[in-house]
Amino acid sequence: MLKTKDTVLEINQIVKEFENGKDSKLTACNNVSLCFEKGKTLGIIGESGCGKSTLMKIIMNLEEPTSGEILYNGEDITKLKGEKLRQHRRHIQMVFQDPTTAFNPKMKVKDIICEPLLNFGLIKKNQKEEVAKKYLEMVELPAEFMDRYPHNMSGGQRQRIGIARALVLNPEILILDESTSALDVSIQKNIIDLIKKIQKDRNLTIGFVCHDIALISECSHMVAVMYLGNIVEIIPSHKLGNFAMHPYTKTLMDAVFDLNMDFSKKIDMLDNDISTKIDNVNACPFRDRCNCSIDVCSRKMPQLKKITDDHYVACHLDFTV
Ligand SMILES: Nc1ncnc2c1ncn2[C@@H]1O[C@H](COP(=O)(O)OP(=O)(O)O)[C@@H](O)[C@H]1O
Ligand code: SF4
Ligand SMILES: [Mg+2]
Repeated sequence: MLKTKDTVLEINQIVKEFENGKDSKLTACNNVSLCFEKGKTLGIIGESGCGKSTLMKIIMNLEEPTSGEILYNGEDITKLKGEKLRQHRRHIQMVFQDPTTAFNPKMKVKDIICEPLLNFGLIKKNQKEEVAKKYLEMVELPAEFMDRYPHNMSGGQRQRIGIARALVLNPEILILDESTSALDVSIQKNIIDLIKKIQKDRNLTIGFVCHDIALISECSHMVAVMYLGNIVEIIPSHKLGNFAMHPYTKTLMDAVFDLNMDFSKKIDMLDNDISTKIDNVNACPFRDRCNCSIDVCSRKMPQLKKITDDHYVACHLDFTV
């Protein structure tokens, strides 16, 4: 995926290996390169265990990559340390899947929302109510909620507080890692609508991580499909229905079937289980589950090939028309 004038975050060949027992390694991210564009949502889709959260943690400086770089304003943020890292954290914020565990249960909503600002010395304690009111309004919750505790709220309301807290430092990039996955379908839809509205108002760049391709295509501009640590396809979301080319993306799309977004429908998993590690770098990681595999697939790892300016596929099949 090529860098453009609108690129705000550039992920270059990120590799993340974890120790997996005594002598073996598990490659959670394998040479991942992606670009986040200003004001747009990059969706990252893939089954559980394919490396999505690891990649997001590296972007958030919560994990160190084994190799590769992440450029923000020309600087490799994976190398930041100390006060520079602390200051940088304001620019990229994250909403966690389960805000119940992310919040201190003894803190009131106004304290939860204002804590990042207080930590950075950006407001005084007597400004908390004013700030909490503004951000509660932004996430469409009544001002009275500022004196509540998180356990006195519904899952959807808590997730709105999570969004408010993440945005209070005015980040340029917001990472949503399965942030709506635990919610009921109708509540999930409301939160997605809210996020889209906030994105428009603030020209916010979003990384939206999810295992549900219907949801991803509903709220992303570009979609990166991840399989066993590898990006196998990058495609504009509006092309997913008719132009997805990678056999894995097509399987995910077939599972959704109705592109009119039935939010209650989850991806049907493929027949065989996802294996837990990349065992052969000289082969396509999808070969064991692929119905289209050819001889070369077990000998050579396919690299991302440009199909059009905004569409890339890593597969040995010939897609020329
Ligand atoms: N801290 C860790 N130590 C060892 N293995 C890990 C660690 N974090 C993640 N993994 C492994 O890396 C792979 C990718 O995990 P993850 O990034 O959480 O996937 P996803 O978010 O797509 O479900 C999984 O096999 C997982 O078990
Ligand atoms: S490279 Fe081969 S095995 Fe991999 S997705 Fe393409 S056809 Fe299937
Ligand atoms: Mg995850």
